[in-house]
Amino acid sequence: KLYLESEGFNWKSVDIFLNKLYYDYRNLIRRIEMKIVVKENYSEMSKYAADIIAELVRNKPDCVIGFATGGTPIGTYKELIRMHKEEGLDFSGVRSFNLDEYLGVGIDLSKPYSLDQSYARFMHEELFSHINIKKENIRIPDGLSKNPEEFCKSYEEEIKKTGGIDLQILGIGGDGHWAFNEPGSSFTSRTRIEALAKQTLDDNYEAFYKNAGVSREQMPHYAITMGIGTILEAKSAIMLANGSKKADIVAQALEGPVTTDVTASAIQLYKGDVTVILDKGAAAGLKKL
Ligand code: PGA
Repeated sequence: KLYLESEGFNWKSVDIFLNKLYYDYRNLIRRIEMKIVVKENYSEMSKYAADIIAELVRNKPDCVIGFATGGTPIGTYKELIRMHKEEGLDFSGVRSFNLDEYLGVGIDLSKPYSLDQSYARFMHEELFSHINIKKENIRIPDGLSKNPEEFCKSYEEEIKKTGGIDLQILGIGGDGHWAFNEPGSSFTSRTRIEALAKQTLDDNYEAFYKNAGVSREQMPHYAITMGIGTILEAKSAIMLANGSKKADIVAQALEGPVTTDVTASAIQLYKGDVTVILDKGAAAGLKKL
């Protein structure tokens, strides 16, 4: 060692080299495992995603599904509803956990849909009320919990008790978030309270709250979210994105460095089966297709 050092050998550079080798190797493996599917349009993307979910439901009727909210999965949910109504796809044994919910907001069925922007309400309107999933099998973070921190712990415990999530459905936020894990969230984070980033507030205000007559100041600024660590434990996952607005962030998440600046880049560390389903617009920034 002394001889090597006297020759100007730099141990730090060996360390950096080995680290790089390790990451390159891991990325190589990941590229083989991560399946990226590009469909012609939103409707094709949604059908492809719904087929994956339906196959799981048929093969494992008591499966545990992690559901996501947002504009992206609405088409997938519509297709699942169609499959339930026309083909008898049976959700009676399915158990579900949703990714996130605004803090201070809960389902209020006495209000018209447009005035209740809870994710519980979203799931009810966009999917659950149209299929035969049992109410007692649905779990959505409780935005009205009196003790949200305790709630977060119990959510984690419940997921564990079911044996874990079989298939997690994911989107990607404009700032690269997964669920409400905003930039800077640790990859080992668990279900917790998270402050929403400016871009998320802007995006969700435009997409949802503006039409509900709620001012940007009044909209919730905090949420309960599953952590990145929680998400990475799902046995399989699908990630959906559509539209050219997402092209840059999708490329960063799938091909850029693994970084907490883009929490969805944690997908590159994911050990389960993952299929990324994009429309042409969202895939436009990818170099390695
Ligand atoms: P969106 O949201 O589907 O409304 O674009 C995605 C997300 O925030 O994960």
